[in-house]
Amino acid sequence: MFKPSISDRETVDACSQISIERNNESKYLTLEAYFSKYNLDGFKKLMRSQADGENGHAHLIIDFLDDRNANYYVETLAFKAPPLVTIGEVLDFWLTTEQNTTLELIARQTLANEVDDMIAWEFWQTMIKEQREEEKMVMYWYTRATELGVLDIDLSVEGATDYTTRLALITLDNEAKS
Ligand SMILES: [Fe+2]
Ligand SMILES: [Fe+2]
Repeated sequence: MFKPSISDRETVDACSQISIERNNESKYLTLEAYFSKYNLDGFKKLMRSQADGENGHAHLIIDFLDDRNANYYVETLAFKAPPLVTIGEVLDFWLTTEQNTTLELIARQTLANEVDDMIAWEFWQTMIKEQREEEKMVMYWYTRATELGVLDIDLSVEGATDYTTRLALITLDNEAKS
């Protein structure tokens, strides 16, 4: 099917989204490192799949732009891993990442609307829908971590986890494996 070329303004806008998705990949690899440090292999694996997913999102945008004859480019954003101590902080970081990404995608879609680009509007809509699913996933883990009482434990302190807490962490991590 013939697809009209995309405008330069939309291309620049979409390229900023490629950077965001690539940045998200770094963020989830950082969270993978966090779980690796505390031997929580279920979440380590889950974070790797999130990182892969972000890379996939960047590829989707690249393919979309390629399909619309865009002179796209890929730029990297600066990223410094934040200090993360509790699982609650990790989940906050994860949720904020997804929520901010959703807002960014909505901005892309608003531009598509402004310039009457229905094809782009639909493309961003698909990505926004996926965002909602990702946000739901984080909320699910928030609920489970709260129920198991492991949200605010300082894992960086040696011996901070007693037997019951350790068991709760293992239970949560096993759920992430399935
Ligand atoms: Fe993404
Ligand atoms: Fe995501």
